[in-house]
Amino acid sequence: MNSTPDVPEELLDFDSPDSSSIIRDKMSDDPCFGLLKRSFSDSSFPSVITDNTLKLIWSNTSYKKLFHSENTIEGEYLVKLFYPYLDDDKASVLYRSIRSKKEGFSWRGRVESSGRDILTVVANMLISPIFEREQPDGAPIGYQALFYDVTDDHRNTLRSTFTSLLEASKMKDNDTGKHIERVNAYSQILAEKLFFNPDFHAEVTKEFIENIGFLAAMHDVGKIGTPDDILNKTGKLDDHEWKIMKEHTINGAYILGSYPNPVAKDIALFHHERWDGNGYSYQLAGTTIPLAARIVTVADVYDALRMKRSYKDAFTHEEAAKIIVKDSGSHFDPLIIRYFILLHKKFKGIYDSLADE
Ligand SMILES: [Fe+2]
Ligand SMILES: [Fe+2]
Repeated sequence: MNSTPDVPEELLDFDSPDSSSIIRDKMSDDPCFGLLKRSFSDSSFPSVITDNTLKLIWSNTSYKKLFHSENTIEGEYLVKLFYPYLDDDKASVLYRSIRSKKEGFSWRGRVESSGRDILTVVANMLISPIFEREQPDGAPIGYQALFYDVTDDHRNTLRSTFTSLLEASKMKDNDTGKHIERVNAYSQILAEKLFFNPDFHAEVTKEFIENIGFLAAMHDVGKIGTPDDILNKTGKLDDHEWKIMKEHTINGAYILGSYPNPVAKDIALFHHERWDGNGYSYQLAGTTIPLAARIVTVADVYDALRMKRSYKDAFTHEEAAKIIVKDSGSHFDPLIIRYFILLHKKFKGIYDSLADE
């Protein structure tokens, strides 16, 4: 469950005194409430009942399962549970809507929830009012929210767009499809190690690991914009050609700018930066280079060293690893190289198992 604690108080609607005790009493005494609760307790639709300020009173098993919240959190605001996805703007529209007779005291929209140890869950949420029997025309005394899990659809839609893009870029670039698969795999195992380092507690979540294992492949997508004669030139590039070649980072960031996760753009834009500040396109140094890019740089260079290119022979694993370790602190983040040293045999395993035909 989203454990972000810093939701601003003004996001929550305190207009009316909460009806928690009324709802709680009704749920234990009132047969209609008993029926509502019974009807949804074993339903496969995740569902919660809240008071009139959207404070959680009750949730069913499917809800707890979907949002990994076995110990939910009675008395917590729904908005808080889905913060920061339900940010200031969305939350105020939501509160306005559930207070509005014209809107049927209801709201529907998308929410996301994530945590360090769990992948992001995306769900459509429908909030509808609960009225007292005696006062059917009054304001709701509570709400029921139903959820529909769209995590897989959401992920697949997002990914299929970028997979097509990747396919298009593969038609232009000399690098094989296997290169990008391997870069994904190396990046993912490096991120898995960082997950256990307390210094990266906030940044390296399960979602980050999952994302880098898919998005590392996008590092050179900007080469779609590089002219073929430069991309395929067998000899050395002259200054002007080199300048155009380097623009693939900026082109990649432009292409990936619409991807909701900024990691995609970071990887494309910064994967040629160097730890010592002598890379391109912005000469960033050290930890000012986004972590995902620092990881992908190591993965990409290792694989490029292993591959035969028009301008060089393939290096053995030992030769490539030696070069990577030598460039720790100059080209590469020394901490990531510490993990590379621990993982180097796995790098070799990935290269061998995903070898180019
Ligand atoms: Fe590149
Ligand atoms: Fe590459």
